[in-house]
Amino acid sequence: MKFNLKKFSSYLTQKGFLQAIEYFEETDSTNTYLKNSVNIDKKLVIVDYQTAGRGRFERKWFSQRGENLTFSVGFENFEVALIPKLNFFFPAIIAQTIEEYLSLPVEIKWPNDLLSSGKKFCGILIENSIESNGLAKLIVGIGINCNQTDFPEEISKRATSLKLILNEEVEREILLAKLIDNVAEYWNRFLSNAMGFLPIYKSKCLSIGKEISVLYKDQIFTGVFLDVSVDGELILKTKTEKLIFNSGEITTIKE
Ligand code: BTN
Repeated sequence: MKFNLKKFSSYLTQKGFLQAIEYFEETDSTNTYLKNSVNIDKKLVIVDYQTAGRGRFERKWFSQRGENLTFSVGFENFEVALIPKLNFFFPAIIAQTIEEYLSLPVEIKWPNDLLSSGKKFCGILIENSIESNGLAKLIVGIGINCNQTDFPEEISKRATSLKLILNEEVEREILLAKLIDNVAEYWNRFLSNAMGFLPIYKSKCLSIGKEISVLYKDQIFTGVFLDVSVDGELILKTKTEKLIFNSGEITTIKE
């Protein structure tokens, strides 16, 4: 089904936050679209289908037409020092929105995947460029698997959707409106006190304290996930040392 922009707008309560909203049935990638656009501050781009959806590590993000949420929001004049903290702000806010609206407890897998019962249903791709004024232009791309029930064989063990978890159709327009409302509500608080969102993130980051393996630049590191730093980094204690990762992927978690 086509995303209903009117319905989305009617559920959105924080009307002044978004400066522009664009909907397309199809584009290559909403992140790429904003990257090639000007005046993107607080612009939301939402599409029903991406022909070249992108994930972290240059992976493809596949999402069935009209079933899920695939969108990006642009931000301009963003303070560079705050960039790492987006990695805990957005997962915390999305998790909170899903818990409030759908009563579904959500787990965060560092850095910013959202899971339920160990399967991923939401991914976030944050891209930035530093502009000539020393501030950053940001693109926050979010994919939430809402109503897709078929997944390609190779990812079906790891991926799921809200419909598969809840056994009912999710109203994409309402979920997105609630999410944007929460971002709008907390955005200024984030800009003035980003650290305030770290405890929320950590409380949902269930692998803290467990033995994990981290894939970083083609190498695997195993140890205990000690903590998440103030900059959203993963602190790992191996047998011999303490390592700090600002990117990478958790590949295994020992229960
Ligand atoms: C990941 O988990 O690797 C991140 C996935 C991010 C996917 C979203 S869908 C909307 C936006 N446009 C893209 O091309 N990617 C992001």
